[in-house]
Amino acid sequence: MVISVEDARHEARRRVPRWLFDYVDGGAGAEHSLGRNLSALAGIGFLPSVLSGAGTADTGTTLFGIAHRFPVALAPVGMAGMLAPGGEIAAAMAAARAGISMCVSHFALASIEDIAAAVDPAGLMFQLYIFRDRAMTRDMVGRAWAAGVRTLVVTVDTPVTPLRLRDARNGFRSATRLSGRLAGQCLLRPRWLHGTLRRPDRIIRNLEPYGMGQTLFAQAAAIGRAIDPAIGWDDIAALRDLWKGRLILKGILRPDDTARAVSAGLDGVILSNHGGRQLDGAVSPVETLAACRDAAGSGLDICVDGGFRHGTDVVKALALGAQGVLIGRPWAYGLATGGMSGVGDILTLFHTGIQTGMILLGTPDIADLRARGRDHLHIDP
Ligand code: FNR
Repeated sequence: MVISVEDARHEARRRVPRWLFDYVDGGAGAEHSLGRNLSALAGIGFLPSVLSGAGTADTGTTLFGIAHRFPVALAPVGMAGMLAPGGEIAAAMAAARAGISMCVSHFALASIEDIAAAVDPAGLMFQLYIFRDRAMTRDMVGRAWAAGVRTLVVTVDTPVTPLRLRDARNGFRSATRLSGRLAGQCLLRPRWLHGTLRRPDRIIRNLEPYGMGQTLFAQAAAIGRAIDPAIGWDDIAALRDLWKGRLILKGILRPDDTARAVSAGLDGVILSNHGGRQLDGAVSPVETLAACRDAAGSGLDICVDGGFRHGTDVVKALALGAQGVLIGRPWAYGLATGGMSGVGDILTLFHTGIQTGMILLGTPDIADLRARGRDHLHIDP
């Protein structure tokens, strides 16, 4: 068993091809936001209360209407199925076993139907990108509902994909519509990579019905063109009309956008800079969390992601006003390292880390942790 996310990261680097490790591990541009996510959390200090008399901590809570044994969910990670056979299904089963939810990526290799058949779909969320082709988008939403999913997460920070230097150097899917010349030069170029991505078992099943290519190679090239770069609040209003379950926006960083999510009738937001993979230089979500919480009032569930590697990081986010945390790379490293049990090990680390952190902080349960909030923290000016 791995004893830290960092150990799992090192093990993943040893086990999977370089281009695949870099796809998971890397970020956009100079990777400033990627590093900022980690340093922002490291810069927050606790002010523990001693002699609280609790001796134990109850980590149970509800995130986006789903009961959780601890306040962590698996973030959507596109093409995670490349990391281990049956990848996303293994991850969903590990999440279910740990008593938490998984947000399934639109670009999972396994279809939402197959994942929902393997676990109780009440414990799943589905992450959606809005495609230029709205009929295709609506069809995907209908499939998620029919599969039993009741929480829809719409990612809004991905109008284009910026240059991700590691992917570009490795010749893997770095290109966007905007960098057309670059696209021609480095999109999926090396012959060996073509071979890997042409394997018939490697395909984004969710996209299969829509004629977006019969290999992952073709799909990866089509994705960038398919996502609508010009979505607006009217598209969110249309989804609000269409989706009868909980509707969540992912990729918010500003307090005014958070307030707008409230007036648009959303049930929650996930504050995120996409793990430092989109706008390089964007602040870390934990830096704007308190302001976004204040802007939202009490009617909106707020979760946060980016750079969470320890249970104590999660405790910090809750003290700042988040209901919960999503983790992306940590579960991907776990999957690459040991499949379902590798993801399970990572979740155990988070669960025990949160529990021990809460006991050491002197807070008996999630309600107390959130109620006393920033009183638990020392934040460097
Ligand atoms: C992502 N992320 C992501 N987000 C999303 O909404 N849809 C997606 O398909 C993907 N795909 C994806 C692939 C990979 C390889 C990574 C690492 C991330 C972003 C993800 O949901 C989450 O916001 C970040 O991963 C959180 O940061 P950490 O936990 O990885 O530091």
